[in-house]
Amino acid sequence: MSLSPPTERIWWKEKIPTTELIWITIAFLWGLVMFFMMIYWHGAGEQNLSNEAYRISPANFTAKTQAMVDQYTVREESGYPVVHPPPGSDVYLIARLWQWWPILELEKDESYRLHISALDWQHGFSLQPVNINLQIHPGYEMVLTVTPDQLGDYGIVCNEFCGIGHHTMLGKMLVVE
Ligand code: CUA
Repeated sequence: MSLSPPTERIWWKEKIPTTELIWITIAFLWGLVMFFMMIYWHGAGEQNLSNEAYRISPANFTAKTQAMVDQYTVREESGYPVVHPPPGSDVYLIARLWQWWPILELEKDESYRLHISALDWQHGFSLQPVNINLQIHPGYEMVLTVTPDQLGDYGIVCNEFCGIGHHTMLGKMLVVE
């Protein structure tokens, strides 16, 4: 192998082979299909979107969460308070480096107003295995009306890269009778 220049001066101006053209066309059309499906699914795909968000300061959000934790903590799990708030109430979840705090314990078939906000920077709320996803920003709270209809332990993972401890940012939500 040598580092000599190409023999043709305009080396890049070649006819595109037919098979390559076909594949470029297929990929381009498929990209268009996926683009329009994204818009279609937004309306028709039964997405779990939060359509509510409000400005809130991290200090204010911390105070509300702390008040709920102080009032309704029922036990501890590996250093995290497990909070069992009354059905129908406002419940709070903090995202911060690198935890989801506290552990919420909700009752099956009851509704709650779930508020989620970040205290430092952007995190991704991903509730598994039901796959509900939200972006969580500091300065804003996302508010969802949730009615859990299946018992179990749900995992919360952070799916937005947030630094060196991102992969350890795991939380939990419990649904009980
Ligand atoms: Cu928080 Cu990644």
